[in-house]
Amino acid sequence: MSQTETVYLDGNYTQKNEAKLSILDRGFLFGDGVYELVPIYNRHIFYVENHLKRLKSSLNSINIDSSIIDDMQIIDIIKDLVSKNNYINHYIYIHISRGVDKTRNHIYAKSGKPTVLIMGESYIPFSKQDIKKGKRAICEDDYRWLKSNIKSTSLLANVLIKNKAYDKKAYEALLIRDGYLTEGSASNVFIVTNNVIKTPVLSNKLLPGITRKFLTDLIKKYNIEFSECEISKDDLFESDEIFCSSSTNPVVPITQLDDKVISKEAGQVSMTLYQHAQNFIKEFQS
Ligand code: PDD
Repeated sequence: MSQTETVYLDGNYTQKNEAKLSILDRGFLFGDGVYELVPIYNRHIFYVENHLKRLKSSLNSINIDSSIIDDMQIIDIIKDLVSKNNYINHYIYIHISRGVDKTRNHIYAKSGKPTVLIMGESYIPFSKQDIKKGKRAICEDDYRWLKSNIKSTSLLANVLIKNKAYDKKAYEALLIRDGYLTEGSASNVFIVTNNVIKTPVLSNKLLPGITRKFLTDLIKKYNIEFSECEISKDDLFESDEIFCSSSTNPVVPITQLDDKVISKEAGQVSMTLYQHAQNFIKEFQS
């Protein structure tokens, strides 16, 4: 972390290593908040309207007035942070908690003022070589709550599951609820069967990923066969290709799932979509 990096906290610009929150902030005590992660490509904010729409929806779902997003002109704050910190390829993390209460209490004050933190984080996306090689994943029971469509900061289950994958030297854990695929611990999941790309239908059991939306836009543009449908655990293991999507890495092919080799290297359909995504981003940022 750069000592001079500037972040936005509750109306003020401050240094990242000096920013402070109250111990009574409900985000700290209860994970009572929501967040967004928006990629910056060559200083341009990617799919920002979609990210802000999802942020508003997350806020509404947990009864925080979403008009604060328009009132604080969040896009201008992101632009300020990009320019103040000279961010070229970063992501912007937006965290809105229900704010600070007088005491620790499950019941929240209806009139509370949300805490808003906006900061940048650096990341290095996988190289094309890494993508072509593919990654390992494990399967895990989806024991999270049934409101996984909300981008909540209460991520303990996701954290535990992702670390289980990490300890097994896997990139991701693919989650199975009642015999069906939902998503990854920090990504959406697609499979390819007979050249048809498939992904689970949106519901309360998975996050409506913005990269999922970006990829489905590309799939439509290039007339690739596509289906949003239920995907059983057997479908997953018998698929020709699997890939994960998230804002930090739009297409990550999974070549091994538990002990099963899905493909020797990233499949052709995944690589084609990866390339379409890279080309779109290249054009977007120029
Ligand atoms: N996570 N599902 C889950 C559970 C996620 O945490 C994420 C992203 C996604 C993909 O969403 P998007 O395409 O909008 O990034 C799906 C981010 C990267 C994170 O929490 O760091």
